[in-house]
Amino acid sequence: MEKPILCRKFYKQLWCVTFCFFFCFFVLFCFDYLSLISGKNGVTTLLVYNFAINNQRCNHHLCNINETITYNPDSSEVIRNFTELDSCSGKYIYVHDLPIEFNDNVLSNCSLLVKWFDMCPFTINSGLGPQVRNPGRVLMENCWFATNQFLLEVIFRNRMNQYKCLTKDSTLASAIYVPFYAGLDIGRYLWGYNISMRDSSALDLVKWLAQKPEWKKMWGIDHFFVAGRIGWDFQRQKDNDSYWGSKLMLLPESMNMTMLSIEATSWSNEIAIPYPTYFHPSSDAEVFQWQDRLRSQKRRYLFAFAGAPRPSMEGSIREEIIKQCIASKGKCKLLDCNSVGRKCDKPVEVIKVFQKSVFCLQPPGDSYTRRSTFDSILAGCIPVFFHPGSAYAQYLWHLPKDYKKYSVFIPENNVKNGKVSIKQSLLHVSKDQVLAMREEVIRLIPRVIYANPSSKLETIEDAFDIAVKGILDRVEHVRREFKKGMNPSIGFAQENWKLKLREHEWINFF
Ligand SMILES: *[C@@H]1O[C@H](CO)[C@@H](O)[C@H](O)[C@H]1NC(C)=O
Ligand SMILES: *[C@@H]1O[C@H](CO)[C@@H](O)[C@H](O)[C@H]1NC(C)=O
Ligand SMILES: *[C@@H]1O[C@H](CO)[C@@H](O)[C@H](O)[C@H]1NC(C)=O
Ligand SMILES: *[C@@H]1O[C@H](CO)[C@@H](O)[C@H](O)[C@H]1NC(C)=O
Ligand SMILES: *[C@@H]1O[C@H](CO)[C@@H](O)[C@H](O)[C@H]1NC(C)=O
Ligand SMILES: *[C@@H]1O[C@H](CO)[C@@H](O)[C@H](O)[C@H]1NC(C)=O
Repeated sequence: MEKPILCRKFYKQLWCVTFCFFFCFFVLFCFDYLSLISGKNGVTTLLVYNFAINNQRCNHHLCNINETITYNPDSSEVIRNFTELDSCSGKYIYVHDLPIEFNDNVLSNCSLLVKWFDMCPFTINSGLGPQVRNPGRVLMENCWFATNQFLLEVIFRNRMNQYKCLTKDSTLASAIYVPFYAGLDIGRYLWGYNISMRDSSALDLVKWLAQKPEWKKMWGIDHFFVAGRIGWDFQRQKDNDSYWGSKLMLLPESMNMTMLSIEATSWSNEIAIPYPTYFHPSSDAEVFQWQDRLRSQKRRYLFAFAGAPRPSMEGSIREEIIKQCIASKGKCKLLDCNSVGRKCDKPVEVIKVFQKSVFCLQPPGDSYTRRSTFDSILAGCIPVFFHPGSAYAQYLWHLPKDYKKYSVFIPENNVKNGKVSIKQSLLHVSKDQVLAMREEVIRLIPRVIYANPSSKLETIEDAFDIAVKGILDRVEHVRREFKKGMNPSIGFAQENWKLKLREHEWINFF
């Protein structure tokens, strides 16, 4: 850009200033946005916003500048003032370059990942798994995958590679991502291994982290990592082989970090984010198209349940739910996950049933939460919860605070003692309420999906984007406390469901 600096030499001459002023006006008119403000005493200020220029002042790749040009007729002075704008300011993330034993090596030995089945087929396509071929009329071509629920950390890391505000300079970073495959790592040793095997990676990791200069800046409080398993798997209560899991989250270093996982425990430094499901669109249009399709979908079942009973779990309401479903005289569709053919693992089978149902039952299973909750949202099926730990106390960043807007709550005790008929409760919901709730569920779809990491959504924020925002806000909050002289560790890692529950009457459920 040509800068009309030569005028300064003659600035005492009014004609030059006037000429210069209009020249600036003309030149700057070409840019994004401009406003003219007539201030007091005839001082005139021009503001020029957001034009990117190649300028030495500009040291980041995303560089915008606000320019203020002030003309004072008394002194006949023109003052130009640049303010650098950085659209990534406050959003930079630094990714630790971990030794590959913490991530790539874990994944490359994929046949060892889970004792019960071969994980290797699911690790392809950046962790999305194999694409669903010939989905017929149930799903759209190209954006559906047979995704395994334990691969969240791989998908998340691949999405992070696309994040627009990555920095190689950790001093610029607002948060620090530790690309440790925590869930895949412990998944290898949960069954039949002693505690020293289970804790080995966790101990190596925190040792590695704590020696880094990045750790010393905030004692790790700006660090976060993702686990594709439930938080309970990292909270072993005693150093005894017969107790469950590793003690990753009980290590002093972990108390200073935040873990994002598919299901959090009561600790305040664990935040749950959505399970990865089957829909991984590559463009906004694919999302809008899917949402439109769901709005006009005919739903012939009042409710549906996809699952299996838990005969060995005391107090499980699944048997009662299955009983009520079968007795509903065609109002309920059951997808039996114990049946031959494993229909529950097939995206087409699951979505087909949920698409045709108004409500989808989401009782706790082995733990409070289920991937099926997100499958039902994807299909525009209103989730029915029986325990606040299944969603309301979990996905604080992703789901609305007002749970009645998008779901139905039937306390599990009322089902257990046969006090409540699920069918009758659901028939009680008015048609208008159903329509409003379904629209809210469909509106939530972008927030609970992970876009295909090999491309980018344009305007939509997906579950990854919302998780990153949540982390940046959380770290920023601590940083402000710290500046005010508060002790940042207070409340950061505390064991307390009450802190997470937005409705305190629910505390009796835990
Ligand atoms: C630049 O201008 C925009 C538009 O008014 C304003 O919102 C923003 O705060 C300004 N930034 C700086 C650094 O002055
Ligand atoms: C330029 O603008 C910045 C930010 O608005 C302000 O702090 C600074 O004093 C201004 N400089 C001049 C020379 O007016
Ligand atoms: C995993 O694979 C890497 C090579 O990809 C190998 O070096 C390592 O020993 C393997 N680890 C295990 C536990 O098998
Ligand atoms: C734990 O198990 C590993 C191999 O499974 C073995 O090498 C190690 O000695 C065991 N450690 C203890 C303390 O028993
Ligand atoms: C480990 O726990 C089991 C079961 O709770 C108990 O029987 C055993 O004595 C414990 N072992 C040790 C070394 O504490
Ligand atoms: C965790 O953070 C606190 C400050 O909040 C600090 O005193 C402590 O040393 C940190 N722990 C580790 C293991 O770095």
